[in-house]
Amino acid sequence: MTAPSHKHAVTELLGPKGGAPIVGLTAYTAPVASRLDRHVDFMLVGDSVAMVIYGMETTRTIDLETMIRHGKAVAQNAHQAMVVVDMPFGTYEDDADVALANARRVMTETGGDAVKMEGGSGLAATVARVVADGIPVMGHVGLMPQQVRAAGQFKSKGHTQAESRRILQDALAIAAAGAFAIVVEGVVEPLAREITAACPVPIIGIGASVACDGQILVTEDMSGMFTTFRPKFVKRYAELGDDLERAVAAYADDVRERRFPGPEHTFKPRKKPAGQT
Ligand code: KIV
Repeated sequence: MTAPSHKHAVTELLGPKGGAPIVGLTAYTAPVASRLDRHVDFMLVGDSVAMVIYGMETTRTIDLETMIRHGKAVAQNAHQAMVVVDMPFGTYEDDADVALANARRVMTETGGDAVKMEGGSGLAATVARVVADGIPVMGHVGLMPQQVRAAGQFKSKGHTQAESRRILQDALAIAAAGAFAIVVEGVVEPLAREITAACPVPIIGIGASVACDGQILVTEDMSGMFTTFRPKFVKRYAELGDDLERAVAAYADDVRERRFPGPEHTFKPRKKPAGQT
């Protein structure tokens, strides 16, 4: 495979609003990062890894060490796309000093380009502190999965005027704090449109309509690998879970019928030179 020519810088992603839509997908592992790298502007090492890879009920139970391990695997295989690593629940929300120390760890130990933090106006001072240290921060407002304590509580937002006002204020506060882009998740279209128009930084939507400056999906959702539940906003581009199951069934049949391994998969003794026993 040819090495991509350059890596997307944070400043490039910042780009002029109104440019080409920004493309993001999640990645947690080296092989997936290698496949995504040429096609996306950024990869998010999301704390959704908790649910999608580890089978946890919510994203709240993944720890910093695990995020760092996945972040490193992805960053080492991203030659073109920017890599954003999620700060997991409990590692940044309550104390700006703790947030900064943990964000520094994520940046130095993973080799990623930026961190992402969920939170609105109440997190703005922490975002400003981390940004002032030279660490690029992506915000995340609207539906914030780290607030969800049990499966089945992932509900769209912005159905009342008060809630819409609050989410818009959250986005504006995080942009003013210096975030270079903001994920807006699970909000009604008019609110997504309003946030995108009002914020000076790119708005990356997930379940937030086509009005946003870019889109992100969880790769396992859009590729049909994660099928435990399917949010309304997910479009399936493949059915890799079904493909994998078909392949596994074929392998199991082959083993049971002694069709695998075949001669082409079998080591034969090397021919000895003449005269050697
Ligand atoms: O963890 C994640 O995958 C995310 C996306 C839903 C944006 O935060």
